[in-house]
Amino acid sequence: MNICVIGAGYVGLITSLGFAKHGNKVICVEKDIEKVEKLNKGIPTIFEENLEELLNECLISNHIFFTKDIHHAVKSSDVIFIAVGTPEMDNWDVNISQVTEVVNQISYYLNEYKVIVNKSTVPVGTQKYVEKLLLENGISRDKFDIISNPEFLREGKAVHDFLNGDRIVVGYDSEKSKEIMEKLYEPFNIKLVFTQPEAAELIKYASNAFLATKISFINEIANLCNKVGADVETVAYAMGLDKRISPEFMKAGIGFGGSCFPKDTKALVRIGEKNGCDFKIVRSAIEVNEEQRLVPVRILLEKFKELKGKAMTILGLTFKSGTNDIRESPSLFIIKELLRHGAIIKAYDSKASNEIKSIFPDITYCNNIIDSLVDSHCVIICTDWEEFSALDLSVLEEKMKSPIVIDGRNVLSLEEVKKYNLEYYSIGRGNYIN
Ligand code: UGA
Repeated sequence: MNICVIGAGYVGLITSLGFAKHGNKVICVEKDIEKVEKLNKGIPTIFEENLEELLNECLISNHIFFTKDIHHAVKSSDVIFIAVGTPEMDNWDVNISQVTEVVNQISYYLNEYKVIVNKSTVPVGTQKYVEKLLLENGISRDKFDIISNPEFLREGKAVHDFLNGDRIVVGYDSEKSKEIMEKLYEPFNIKLVFTQPEAAELIKYASNAFLATKISFINEIANLCNKVGADVETVAYAMGLDKRISPEFMKAGIGFGGSCFPKDTKALVRIGEKNGCDFKIVRSAIEVNEEQRLVPVRILLEKFKELKGKAMTILGLTFKSGTNDIRESPSLFIIKELLRHGAIIKAYDSKASNEIKSIFPDITYCNNIIDSLVDSHCVIICTDWEEFSALDLSVLEEKMKSPIVIDGRNVLSLEEVKKYNLEYYSIGRGNYIN
């Protein structure tokens, strides 16, 4: 099929490549010309497992092309995917202005029947809104159908998830568009769930909010574990053996970040409010998360009382390993709070995007772990990078002013920790002052 994907962000880029890999002719439209040029040369614009190989495979086989020219892309395609950003607003509403802008642009070029598929995460009712917009733009109803097809890929595992997801959700309102989607997704061999557009839109928010709630739940259990002397990993493991609970998303830590969970939980609360439903559980999951990401600061304030002038090392700036994305990363909140208390920050992350330097221009960014540890009063591990779990702990004893470790992602081996002269704080695995 001829496909056009509008937006070469996380979702748009991976969607484009996923369909290209399965033999479709894909044109991916991106307004940032620098990105277009890089991608056409086979240079990935994001750090993502297996992305470079897939991009180059699709470029060589001539199944993908990146362009700024939306006109040609829309005209020559049977299916148009919208994959643009839907950022959060101050009142937790979702800003869908980029979707509106794209739909208005598409309206100029709908020369014949096309299926318009929304992949962006959008509030319930957006499918109907897009339909109304197209009609207001003078497009006759027989020229288009709209599909809601939310994406469930995880950053870091995006390529894998797109090609091997647990399910594909398709909200539709015409048999013709349903059949086209069925054909398009057939080679993926993934369970397809066909439903109403509103249900499809809601499935996305409900899934993300449920997973976020699971994380906040286990984090509260972890905080209790530290008080009563239980090990959260054993608790989570045994709970997860119950198939109804599952072991996934039971890793305690300093909370969830990223471009999705923080935004989508808030959006669901707002969607609920607008429909007279009060999402108490999701509101609590958000509140627990906001407190959880500051656990390291609370530990330090209890320990030192005064943080002014104390050097703190932050290991890991991205919101999780496997990505260069720093959006809503717990480390950002920790750094901000430590700076407010007058601490001096040295940070290390081999992959974090450069954007962080404009957020915190006055902290020291180190090129390796050791430099970041020299003369530090405490190290806080904020991301579950493998490099940190493999850390030689004798270096901490040697280089730091006081070898205090706050393991915000529970990445260090307790057996190793106990061998060294460290003061070690974890999230639900106990604290060890050796
Ligand atoms: C999440 C969902 O997992 C995807 O299914 C969804 O498609 C995506 O949002 C989206 O809406 O686009 P992502 O934000 O990439 O994916 O990252 P996750 O792997 O879900 O992790 C989110 C956060 O939760 C990270 O900060 C991670 O460290 C944290 N987390 C995750 C935990 O603290 N504990 C866990 O057990 C799992």
